[in-house]
Amino acid sequence: MRIVVVFLLLAGVAAAVVALIAKHQEPSPHGTASAGPTDGECATCHRKRQPGMMVQWDASAHARMGVRCEDCHGADHEQIFRDEGRVPAARCERCHEKETREFLASVHGRASESARKNARLLAQIPAMQRRGCMACHDMGGGDHGRCNACHGAHRHSVADARRPEACGVCHMGPDHPHIEAWRASPHGVTYAACRDERQAPTCATCHMPGGTHDVSGGITIGRAGSGSVLAGETPPIPMGVIERAAAEKQRQAMLRICEGCHTPRLARHALEDADAIKREADRLVAEAVKIMRGLHADGLLDPMPSDRPAHPTAGHALVLGGGMLYENHSEAERIFFDLAKFAHAITFKGAYHQSGDHTHWLGMARLKEDLEELKAEERRLRGRR
Ligand code: HEC
Ligand code: HEC
Ligand code: HEC
Ligand code: HEC
Ligand code: HEC
Ligand code: HEC
Ligand code: HEC
Ligand code: HEC
Repeated sequence: MRIVVVFLLLAGVAAAVVALIAKHQEPSPHGTASAGPTDGECATCHRKRQPGMMVQWDASAHARMGVRCEDCHGADHEQIFRDEGRVPAARCERCHEKETREFLASVHGRASESARKNARLLAQIPAMQRRGCMACHDMGGGDHGRCNACHGAHRHSVADARRPEACGVCHMGPDHPHIEAWRASPHGVTYAACRDERQAPTCATCHMPGGTHDVSGGITIGRAGSGSVLAGETPPIPMGVIERAAAEKQRQAMLRICEGCHTPRLARHALEDADAIKREADRLVAEAVKIMRGLHADGLLDPMPSDRPAHPTAGHALVLGGGMLYENHSEAERIFFDLAKFAHAITFKGAYHQSGDHTHWLGMARLKEDLEELKAEERRLRGRR
């Protein structure tokens, strides 16, 4: 008798589940129950639909600790569709207050807005904006905050985020080859041999010490983009500015990390050489800027900005900094773009990350060659060749 009752009960539950699944089989923006499925139903149904995703979920601390799907996604499936499944960083805040606050206030928290107003983005078709720039920049705050840029939904793992690959997905390529430079450095080479961050530093060792989500600690004139200059110095193109006292404080913080493995002398000397290389690279950019301004003043750029379609943010002015386009410009500007956007950045970013190849061949050698090419173009435009 008991067995029959249990059987009937089970059959009833199964029928209800089948009905639910049927109801959700053909999802439409309006098609889901207003009360919303329960958490167990989320997992059951999605285990059928995205089994690989659920393997990640099962491996997570969240699954072990009883965090529910709806803690991040909410239980209203219509709203989930409207959000296209996105989970803003603010949803994590309830349980991870410190990390969320630090992340949202950091350069990463601002990464999407800084790209969205950039002229190079504005010159692209929407699909290019989304899959080109925003593939790396859609990690900023508010509705779009994506902690999974490093932690990966649904593993949401600390160990994953500590690996250099988690950063290298964005910190790579011709204007910020951090992962490439680090891999080529004694640090990356040693890490490849031991895979142990207590022996060789990864990105997170130096940039997220103590688990901070503010990645700007310990940075002085070697900051993102074209870097900074010390207060009182004149940057050749728009750059950040850092007070001397603040720079010394940040340097001390970075050196404390190095000193876990090195003597103060070795570490300070390496960073001071990188500072000197950054300044030398800035000086060469300044030389190039002078040539460009001269050609512009003498009406020799071919074509002149005044004779071209307007630049998205600067109209018909000459742009030489971070908003410079790589299209709709003259041959001299093409050379300058390579010099300032790529060669200059590779040189100093390579130097701060101990890659001789990036500092020298891929960086400084190309910077100097570009400058020579620009001088040749100047001679041509001035009719001296
Ligand atoms: C700790 C927060 C969190 C929890 C808990 C969570 N998710 Fe997610 N989920 C995310 C994030 C973050 C994304 C990625 C959103 C994005 O792309 O911006 C995501 C994406 C998804 C997607 C879309 C996947 C794709 O690649 O198309 C599905 C489906 C999904 N989650 C279902 C679930 C289910 C079912 C559960 C419970 C078993 C669950 N989630 C639990 C954070 C969470
Ligand atoms: C009966 C099946 C079913 C249940 C229960 C269910 N879902 Fe879904 N869910 C779907 C279907 C179908 C889609 C559309 C994507 C697909 O084809 O897998 C979807 C999509 C999603 C997405 C991605 C949305 C997008 O636009 O990319 C998320 C996130 C999600 N569901 C979370 C949940 C959460 C959280 C629950 C529980 C509160 C839940 N689902 C319950 C069937 C279900
Ligand atoms: C830039 C990559 C990155 C982003 C983006 C990121 N994290 Fe982290 N997170 C890390 C790293 C690396 C660690 C491990 C730090 C360490 O060595 O202790 C970590 C650690 C954590 C931890 C574990 C803390 C502890 O002490 O156990 C939590 C929780 C966390 N992050 C939550 C978040 C949340 C929430 C967000 C979004 C608001 C987020 N993270 C965004 C890289 C990131
Ligand atoms: C491969 C990933 C990736 C792509 C694609 C990408 N960026 Fe970035 N961007 C980054 C990273 C990483 C940084 C910070 C590192 C650095 O500059 O040293 C950054 C920095 C920036 C900065 C800030 C520099 C500063 O002065 O602080 C702006 C603005 C920017 N990118 C705009 C764009 C625009 C616009 C596009 C598309 C035309 C784009 N990015 C494409 C990864 C990317
Ligand atoms: C309802 C609370 C809750 C929410 C919401 C939540 N988490 Fe967690 N999270 C936890 C708990 C509990 C743990 C396990 C803590 C522990 O092991 O000490 C955890 C652990 C983590 C860890 C460390 C995992 C590891 O490898 O040790 C990361 C990273 C993390 N969460 C990221 C996120 C992100 C990103 C979001 C938002 C997309 C989020 N969490 C939303 C409760 C939550
Ligand atoms: C999804 C892409 C992405 C990932 C993943 C990512 N970053 Fe970034 N990072 C950026 C962008 C974009 C910027 C520049 C933001 C800006 O200036 O607007 C940046 C800037 C930085 C800066 C420059 C800080 C400064 O003040 O100049 C550091 C350092 C940094 N990231 C470290 C890391 C580390 C460490 C990781 C991995 C744990 C990581 N990032 C993962 C995109 C990413
Ligand atoms: C051994 C420590 C160390 C490691 C490991 C390390 N960095 Fe750095 N990083 C630095 C130093 C030092 C600077 C420049 C500091 C300054 O301005 O004084 C820097 C600067 C940066 C900047 C600002 C732009 C630049 O390059 O000057 C970014 C972005 C960055 N690092 C990302 C990364 C990423 C991503 C990784 C891993 C692939 C990484 N770093 C590995 C020490 C490190
Ligand atoms: C977790 C340990 C660790 C940390 C932290 C660390 N390094 Fe290293 N470093 C190594 C290892 C391992 C090597 C390769 C073995 C060697 O040559 O000593 C190395 C090599 C170097 C070298 C080349 C050594 C040589 O003799 O030419 C320089 C330069 C260097 N590191 C600078 C730094 C700087 C600067 C910092 C801090 C910003 C730093 N390291 C942080 C472990 C570390």
